[in-house]
Amino acid sequence: MDVFQIEGPVRLRGHVDVNGSKNASLPIMAATLLAPGRSTLIGVPVLADISVFKKLIEQLGCPVERQEDGALAIDATKIDNPVGPYDIVRQMRASVCILGPLLARCGRVEVSMPGGCAIGDRPIDLHLLGLRQLGAQIHLKAGYVIAEAPQGLKGASIFLGGPFGSTVLGTANVMMAAVLAKGRTIIESAACEPEVADLAHCLNAMGARVSGIGSPRLTIDGISHLHPVQYRVIPDRIEAGTFMAAAAMTGGEVHIGHCRTDDMMAVVDRLRNIGVTVETNGDGCTVAAGERLVPADITTQPYPGFPTDLQAQFMALLAMADGNSVVVEKIFPDRFMHVAELTRMAANLRKEGSAVLVAGVKRLIAAPVMASDLRASAALVIAGLAAEGTTTVNRVYHIDRGYERIEERLNRIGAKITREEGGTV
Ligand code: EPZ
Repeated sequence: MDVFQIEGPVRLRGHVDVNGSKNASLPIMAATLLAPGRSTLIGVPVLADISVFKKLIEQLGCPVERQEDGALAIDATKIDNPVGPYDIVRQMRASVCILGPLLARCGRVEVSMPGGCAIGDRPIDLHLLGLRQLGAQIHLKAGYVIAEAPQGLKGASIFLGGPFGSTVLGTANVMMAAVLAKGRTIIESAACEPEVADLAHCLNAMGARVSGIGSPRLTIDGISHLHPVQYRVIPDRIEAGTFMAAAAMTGGEVHIGHCRTDDMMAVVDRLRNIGVTVETNGDGCTVAAGERLVPADITTQPYPGFPTDLQAQFMALLAMADGNSVVVEKIFPDRFMHVAELTRMAANLRKEGSAVLVAGVKRLIAAPVMASDLRASAALVIAGLAAEGTTTVNRVYHIDRGYERIEERLNRIGAKITREEGGTV
């Protein structure tokens, strides 16, 4: 199992490009299953999570090939086995987003029920509620969700809000099922995340009729079949935000290419409050640290609010601010595995329910730390860049799930990270 040795402190300077979005790519890969034939996706990053999803699609009977030009070709001509097995779903919960497209295309699907995960309880009740309202019969057998719609699906008006607001993959699943349903579907309280909008654009490029894209009310007029597509996924706003936090935290100045700041207004707003300059230019932006890091409060919310997927990285940043900040997590109230690890690096953090009080310190001190989930690991890496000494981040496979060769890309802008084999399991 690989570890990172991170020497700090460093000051990041230079240019880094953002890759295609992992969380847009996964549901879009699932969407290609709706249309018989070969679809080609451009910009899908090379990540562990994408490999898991590729395996999942292949075992359905659809060959997936990474072409020489880097595009991902998925041949969904035939689907022999509409099953998402336990072995794959337990590796990656996003596997659940094959439910909607396979139900719509094959009239039956079995997917292992995802269990708990490091960031908290993650039920799929809203996914199932939406599919039931489209006419699916759903039951649970031996840990598998079995959904059937032998007569096809029928459009419906569906309220998809839950106790924590909208659901990203739930909206994706129901939208993908509804595009082939008879009649009109309205999804109210739909997730507005740019990744959901990107999926809707891809579906429309396949011939679907989805409107209200990017708003909480999606209208979907069902059609009888879709065609394969060539589609480019959007850049990863969470990767962009991670680079922004790293630049700010190291007192650096970094130009971030392929960065859609329009999709990141809450993040840019918080950075500016923290005293960081963000200037949009061309298809990217320049992020420059100010004289000092000013404390700021952050509350995570569904889009367009501040994303939960950047909460850990911004907590690391605020840990070095000149005063006290409060970070409140409203999407996954238990998503705080990084708190204890950052504390090992001399951050002054106190967890109170779903909030963390951050008392800024002048310096972080390197320590051996353990990555627990993807974004918590990213927070530890950027803390390591700013900390004094050599930080060892164990279990970096978590970070490889969502960031492509992050150490090489950060090293090109001034980081000193080496990847070594071994480390604490
Ligand atoms: C997506 O997960 C992302 N994953 C997550 O990114 C991200 O943290 C999350 O959205 C929130 O933005 C992918 O896109 C692959 P949700 P998802 O359904 O769709 C509750 C990362 O680090 N809920 O929007 O599974 C749920 O418990 C990952 O890249 C229900 O109550 O999240 C949570 O409190 C991790 N019932 C809230 O809704 C449901 O049926 C939002 O979850 C579904 C969700």
